[in-house]
Amino acid sequence: MYSDKVIDHYSNPRNVGEIENASGIGQVGNPVCGDIMKMYIKVEEDIIKDATFKTFGCGAAIATSSVATEIIKGKTIEEALKLTNKEVVDELEGLPSAKVHCSVLAEEAIREAIADYYRKQGEKSEAEIKEICGLKDEKECPHCDLENSGDE
Ligand code: FES
Repeated sequence: MYSDKVIDHYSNPRNVGEIENASGIGQVGNPVCGDIMKMYIKVEEDIIKDATFKTFGCGAAIATSSVATEIIKGKTIEEALKLTNKEVVDELEGLPSAKVHCSVLAEEAIREAIADYYRKQGEKSEAEIKEICGLKDEKECPHCDLENSGDE
């Protein structure tokens, strides 16, 4: 059901934890299943030098957070904003269809962390930040299957 890569990232997640004095922190949640993902980024000269996460959720959410932080490290903000949940799923060599929605949290958490970074910079209006980061007001996932494993 799960690829070796998903199991690897779930059992041995990379980049877990917080970044002290993070440039941006993004927290998203799925109100249906209750999973929460918090992403921390350190930005220097427009490059994401470090990315970490804390996820309270299912195994797929942990694996996608782990791989997403690996993907965005070393990328520019612009490149990181282009990351889609599909790329995260592909990097994990697939997820069961009922778990694809979990990967959306990773994409959204990155966008929120970058939005937080822009807010801290204080150079852009909230409307501009929402536009650049593609923030949606509605974060509810209608596809959540409520099959949490209860893992932290
Ligand atoms: Fe994984 Fe909803 S985020 S079960």
